[in-house]
Amino acid sequence: MTEAIAAVEADANRSADTHLLPFPLPREWGLDLYLKDESVHPTGSLKHRLARSLFLYGLCNGWIGPRTTIVEASSGSTAVSEAYFARMLGLPFIAVMPASTSPEKIAQIEFQGGRCHLVDDPASVVVEARWLAEDSGGHFMDQFTYAERATDWRGNNNIAESIYAQLRLERHPIPAWVVVGAGTGGTSATLGRYVRYRRLATKLCVVDPENSAFYPAWLAADWSVRTGKGSRIEGIGRPTVEASFLPSVVDRMVQVPDAASLAAMRAGSAVLGRRVGGSTGTNLWGAFGLIAGMLAEGRTGSVVTLICDAGDRYADTYYSDDWVAAQGHDLAPHAAVIDRFLTSGAWPA
Ligand SMILES: Cc1ncc(COP(=O)(O)O)c(C=O)c1O
Repeated sequence: MTEAIAAVEADANRSADTHLLPFPLPREWGLDLYLKDESVHPTGSLKHRLARSLFLYGLCNGWIGPRTTIVEASSGSTAVSEAYFARMLGLPFIAVMPASTSPEKIAQIEFQGGRCHLVDDPASVVVEARWLAEDSGGHFMDQFTYAERATDWRGNNNIAESIYAQLRLERHPIPAWVVVGAGTGGTSATLGRYVRYRRLATKLCVVDPENSAFYPAWLAADWSVRTGKGSRIEGIGRPTVEASFLPSVVDRMVQVPDAASLAAMRAGSAVLGRRVGGSTGTNLWGAFGLIAGMLAEGRTGSVVTLICDAGDRYADTYYSDDWVAAQGHDLAPHAAVIDRFLTSGAWPA
């Protein structure tokens, strides 16, 4: 176990911190927007941090041993990152995912040495993963339950501590808002707790896509909300309120139309000169709205959000006009709102 922990720590030591990129806005607004670029992690997303924390948590709890099969219920970024660490430790990794998962995602998990176990009913991935772990004497990582517990929210170079350290020399070092979506809810929980722990004036805004339970549940303070539908923005939005979502640290929630997320994703990619993922678009839409509000109130300050993963994973979906049209998404009205915002700061009420 000691060697395994040393190997995971060595990975952290070899990794440079992710960049904090300024997003260009008219200087005279007195408002600055920053993007924490989590797509540059070795496994391409913010889930590299979570996977590292979940492995350390499992190792230090004595749940993971030298021959433990690692099982996770994820079709996305988490499975790619966990497969990377499982291979580093010489452990078999099984990702349980819906049979509808894109071939690109399956290829990325297999590239990291993982095996993909496909199930027909998307709602059964967690039950199936738990059963597979029991049957193989393995360990179910269960990101939705342990994300908020496994992540060190007080520091240890978590995403929040890194953001504030990188803002230290900026003209507005304490952001008015941090904007992020929720899949497990672990990232927003870490940010919300850190802001309170450090007694900072920053507010936390969680953005949510269509079909997700987080926003309606938060609005009604009813955590039993079930939508029965999956999210169309990979990585964020869930049909039920997950255990790692911490509503008590959330100051505001914004529901973002999926077409607006994709329009903002494309607008952001054009400004940055490289493709970002769909959930980054959801973040940007939320951030633009908050900045427009501050501008209208004559406030100055900064806002921070995340690039959660890169866009090359979505070449055949979010970046394909045919695929977008086939989903019934019309990006044009939202693209017009973003163009108007980036030039005049105006935003629909
Ligand atoms: C691309 C992407 N964005 C955002 C998130 C949300 O992060 P969290 O699970 O910490 O809420 C995820 C989570 O899987 C993700 O994969």
